[in-house]
Amino acid sequence: MFSPVRLIQLGFFLCTFHQVRTACKSNLFTKNLTPFQAVCKLEFTNLKCVTLDPEFAYFDYCYIKAVNRTYKYLSLRAKLLKTPVTKIKINVALLQRLNGYKPFLYNVTIDACRFYKNQKSNPIAGYLYSFFKDYSNMNHSCPYDHDIIVEKVSISHLNTQVTDVLPVPHGDYLFHSNWYAYDIKRATVNVYVTIS
Ligand SMILES: *[C@@H]1O[C@H](CO)[C@@H](O)[C@H](O)[C@H]1NC(C)=O
Ligand SMILES: *[C@@H]1O[C@H](CO)[C@@H](O)[C@H](O)[C@H]1NC(C)=O
Ligand SMILES: *[C@@H]1O[C@H](CO)[C@@H](O)[C@H](O)[C@H]1NC(C)=O
Repeated sequence: MFSPVRLIQLGFFLCTFHQVRTACKSNLFTKNLTPFQAVCKLEFTNLKCVTLDPEFAYFDYCYIKAVNRTYKYLSLRAKLLKTPVTKIKINVALLQRLNGYKPFLYNVTIDACRFYKNQKSNPIAGYLYSFFKDYSNMNHSCPYDHDIIVEKVSISHLNTQVTDVLPVPHGDYLFHSNWYAYDIKRATVNVYVTIS
């Protein structure tokens, strides 16, 4: 026989399952947004890549593309002109727009060469890296002797990472990143998003 606790767990599971099924049905048959999609949705609003040292690196491209209503992605390619690069640091700060952009939750600096060798050492870096690791050729340790490519990071992938893994309040946010080589700031990449 099931214990009372087990029965409550089972009841909760069935209830959740029922809600999910209902949500999927309404999606299939009415084409309306499901309650689940409506709760939390991330959109790209802008992407800005700036080189601060054009003799060290420049951006071949850096854009957001909307293929259709549901498939949007960002891509960028940084040309490295002084390869091999053996020392890279990335500073990532999350900012929330209130009166201007204000620091929110994270401001971390990651030694990319060291991080790659021991990814479990820094959970926040691991979380941020999960945003783009499957879409990038920055998937090995230093040295980097090739262009840095981040290709087609889809909005649905980021939605899963941001709103499922870490629910954050609705609003406008900026993932601000500074890219350092040999401790000199060489570039910034800003990803602007809205969570509604
Ligand atoms: C959007 O485009 C993608 C990629 O071409 C395609 O797989 C998907 O079915 C499209 N979605 C809609 C709603 O048209
Ligand atoms: C992140 O922290 C560093 C060091 O404390 C600081 O200099 C920098 O301004 C912060 N970045 C943001 C965007 O707040
Ligand atoms: C790194 O990414 C490139 C390009 O996406 C891929 O061809 C390669 O197999 C990946 N390497 C590893 C170690 O995952």
